[in-house]
Amino acid sequence: MAWGASEGVLSAFHEPVLLTEVVRLLAPERGGVFLDGTVGGGGHAEAILRAGTGVRLLALDRDAEALESARDRLRSFAGRVEYREGDFAETADLFGLGEGALAGVLLDLGVSSHQIDRLERGFTFRAGAPLDMRMSRRSSTTAAELLEAATAEELGEIFRTYAEERRGRRLAAGLVEARRRKPLRKSDDLIEAIEAVWGRRVAESDLARIFQALRIAVNHELDSLGAGLPVLRDLLQPGGRLVVISYHSLEDRLVKRAFREWGRDCVCPPGLPECRCRGRALGRELTRKPVRPEAAETDRNPRARSARLRAWESAG
Ligand SMILES: C[S@@+](CC[C@H](N)C(=O)[O-])C[C@H]1O[C@@H](n2cnc3c(N)ncnc32)[C@H](O)[C@@H]1O
Repeated sequence: MAWGASEGVLSAFHEPVLLTEVVRLLAPERGGVFLDGTVGGGGHAEAILRAGTGVRLLALDRDAEALESARDRLRSFAGRVEYREGDFAETADLFGLGEGALAGVLLDLGVSSHQIDRLERGFTFRAGAPLDMRMSRRSSTTAAELLEAATAEELGEIFRTYAEERRGRRLAAGLVEARRRKPLRKSDDLIEAIEAVWGRRVAESDLARIFQALRIAVNHELDSLGAGLPVLRDLLQPGGRLVVISYHSLEDRLVKRAFREWGRDCVCPPGLPECRCRGRALGRELTRKPVRPEAAETDRNPRARSARLRAWESAG
């Protein structure tokens, strides 16, 4: 389920989600090198750095603008922070790290309020937004280009899988029809085309799901997460912790399955006469159930509503 995708409210900056839980689970007061793989506006990063002078932070984001705002916010910790632009799946190369280098890793997935607020980035369904949605301006395909080039089958799959939209195929066929008449370049073009297919004014919650599905496809978000999780696990030192906040059920499922699999002693296919795999658990889950924000947080920050946090500790 695309857990009630929402654009939330316009905000001057991004309010970090589940901040107390993140700091409690990462335990930065132990000191060491921590990676914020999705540093965004630097809210979580600041709290991690504040835990003590023994903390060094590697700050990473795909979005150059996000890195700029993090740099600004974290100016007073300058000597203790290193910045890189890129995908967290490429952490090892970007920072030149070997196995066991990190005391903790945070991934706070999805987009920041800052990205949504900036009309020209095209993450929003507000009127006049270009259909861009790229987290990294270095990547080539915008949402408009995807909507122009994808087949009806590909678009249907995006809507069915990422938006859990039962009418995804019909919607995709309608959009392919609409783009023949007029290219889909702006949020308004897409909304008009969706309304023409469904024959009614579309609720904001439906628009949020459709736009979120396109964003996930444009940025290959699930591929990055699937590739990044084992890389980040192997960078953890014994007792090192990986904390992931997801905002979509498919992300959370991926994290949950990875943590369960890593926690098993034996991952051989059933029926083998003897164990031939690694033969030991790689660590343990610290959260048996996903941690969710309390009502006070979601009242204050509607974006937090869909957040699910899971944490894992490496055995080394
Ligand atoms: C929810 S925001 C993070 C907010 C941040 N925790 C804070 O306190 O301000 C998510 C950020 O992750 C970045 N991002 C998403 N996927 C990424 C990936 N695969 N690699 C690097 N950055 C990514 C986005 O560009 C965005 O800035």
